[in-house]
Amino acid sequence: MESFGLGGAGGGAGPGSRLSGGSRGEAPAALASPRGAATGTGLLRAPRSARGTMAETFLVESPDVTYSKDFIEAKYTYSTVHVCKENGVTKVRPCSTRFTFRTGRQVPRLGLMLVGWGGNNGTTVTAAVLANRLGLSWMTKTGRKKANYYGSLLQASTVCLGTGPTGDVYVPFRDLLPMVHPNDIVFDGWDISSLNLAEAMRRAEVLDWPLQEQLWPHMEKMKPRPSIYIPEFIAANQEERADNVLRGSKAEQVEQIRRDIRDFRESSGVDKVIVLWTANTERFCDVVPGLNDTADNLLRAIERGLEVSPSTLFAVASILEGCAYINGSPQNTFVPGAVELAAQRRVFICGDDFKSGQTKLKSVLVDFLVGAGLKTKSIVSYNHLGNNDGKNLSAPQQFRSKEISKSNVVDDTVQANPVLYGPHDKPDHCVVIKYVPYVGDSKRALDEYTSEIMMGGTNTIVIHNTCEDSLLASPIILDLAILTELCQRITFCTEGDPEFQGFHSVLSIVAFLCKAPLVPEGTPVVNALFRQRSCIENILRACLGLPPQNHMLLEHKMQRPALSPKRACPGGAACPLTPKKAATPPQLNGHPCPGTARPGPPRPPLHIDGAN
Ligand SMILES: NC(=O)c1ccc[n+]([C@@H]2O[C@H](COP(=O)([O-])OP(=O)(O)OC[C@H]3O[C@@H](n4cnc5c(N)ncnc54)[C@H](O)[C@@H]3O)[C@@H](O)[C@H]2O)c1
Repeated sequence: MESFGLGGAGGGAGPGSRLSGGSRGEAPAALASPRGAATGTGLLRAPRSARGTMAETFLVESPDVTYSKDFIEAKYTYSTVHVCKENGVTKVRPCSTRFTFRTGRQVPRLGLMLVGWGGNNGTTVTAAVLANRLGLSWMTKTGRKKANYYGSLLQASTVCLGTGPTGDVYVPFRDLLPMVHPNDIVFDGWDISSLNLAEAMRRAEVLDWPLQEQLWPHMEKMKPRPSIYIPEFIAANQEERADNVLRGSKAEQVEQIRRDIRDFRESSGVDKVIVLWTANTERFCDVVPGLNDTADNLLRAIERGLEVSPSTLFAVASILEGCAYINGSPQNTFVPGAVELAAQRRVFICGDDFKSGQTKLKSVLVDFLVGAGLKTKSIVSYNHLGNNDGKNLSAPQQFRSKEISKSNVVDDTVQANPVLYGPHDKPDHCVVIKYVPYVGDSKRALDEYTSEIMMGGTNTIVIHNTCEDSLLASPIILDLAILTELCQRITFCTEGDPEFQGFHSVLSIVAFLCKAPLVPEGTPVVNALFRQRSCIENILRACLGLPPQNHMLLEHKMQRPALSPKRACPGGAACPLTPKKAATPPQLNGHPCPGTARPGPPRPPLHIDGAN
């Protein structure tokens, strides 16, 4: 269809484009610079110096790993196990595939366009980045608080790199590979509400007032672009804020969104744009043959003005502009036609629904219960919240989208345990959400998990979880954007297929951050949180030619530690497996054996210099 042809900005799932120079977080100067701060629709500019090749905080010394100016290239053996039945016998065969991973080292200047920029999440994440960039602190009744990125997997959690002479060495997750720093992200976006970001921040009632006061002059210059509004997709109670909406046919509105993306890219000077939906939860749309089941039908439906949800219209516009599109809400934005379009254009799509509070805990707790051999029979979850998201979800169709998104989170864990569960057996699972304005953004999640234990016994766990919703979702938004951008710079090939390729356009590596992870058709959905985390960590390790983190700690479980190969530790550094330099003192029942405890406080981890 002509009017939706490629054109525009490019920069899809392939390797990053432009070189950039500089380092992280020199922002105060940038905000004061002539090109800085907000202009036009109010975009928040990052400093020019923010772009560039990241100076790695460590180098992998291995014949399998090479660093060139543009790439880190690593040879990696991917080990799997194939199980099949032959003549009634189950055969188990270890397999291995030789991969070459290539990661672009040039970190682009990233632009993030939020749909729903004036909402609680949109304002909070923008404010948080600004506060971190400016190094702000503010007084509260419990003392002075300082801007940070707590809750971000990449910025505030660590991974174990390996073992050194004095024990395990941890680095921030963000240091594994060259990544965009959140302080350097440039924001823009759309909202059906015309409030500027400062007023919208006040409406959200998320951040402490002294912080809002400091941010106000920066945020009042930011104004969301008019957006696509189709009233029947969100709750009727949202109508009163819809004063910033596009007019015209669906095709014209998609064209306008595409122009907005191009305008943002050109006026801000970013190298890459990612679009993320953090607008209201929509009702599910019907998947109808001839309407949205193929890319062609979807594009035709838009031309003819047939039913297509705003979130899908945004997805189509971003894909056609070659921009990755992330869905932070539960609705089925990614109808088959949108998925096909993304595959055709080789653009990443990912979602659905940020995994921030109750579901995150559930994906840990049920994994723990069933993994420990307890038969969880019933999971009942109540929520009440009083922000605008809660108001929207008080309408039955929008609640239904959330209910569906939350409902499958334990399926894979249950199916993985046929000892406890038969083929059609799964726990009762009930989710209730109520709108209680008084609690505002401070959502309450109450869960009851009931499991059958040995010999007819019952174990009941009850949890009360107070989730400051937008403060939990904001770091997830940043992680999603940064990981998606990183994946655009990773390509790989195998010995059997030497042509380099990227990840599948349905980017499932980000499942850790999503309640209902979108995966390529026919591939397994993993909800268990720590499996999801290991997936990210181990793929990033593979890009450095490092083996997966296996937690075996074999070197500490041997009577006679093996001598490690000398070449593993050139320069005379002690090796973890050398007998005289055991990494940690022997332990007895979780305590050091008498006479072996190392004196002094625990060694601080490497490179942990605060979260931002
Ligand atoms: N905060 C969390 O912890 C969390 C977790 C998972 C999912 N989510 C989802 O994230 C979304 C945003 O949450 P929130 O708390 O920021 O909600 P919010 O209601 O405060 O913000 C949503 C914003 O989207 C705007 N909007 C609605 N339709 C739009 C459209 N078509 N185009 C542009 N803007 C539009 C609204 O005016 C509003 O400003 C919701 O769908 C919510 O379910 C949030």
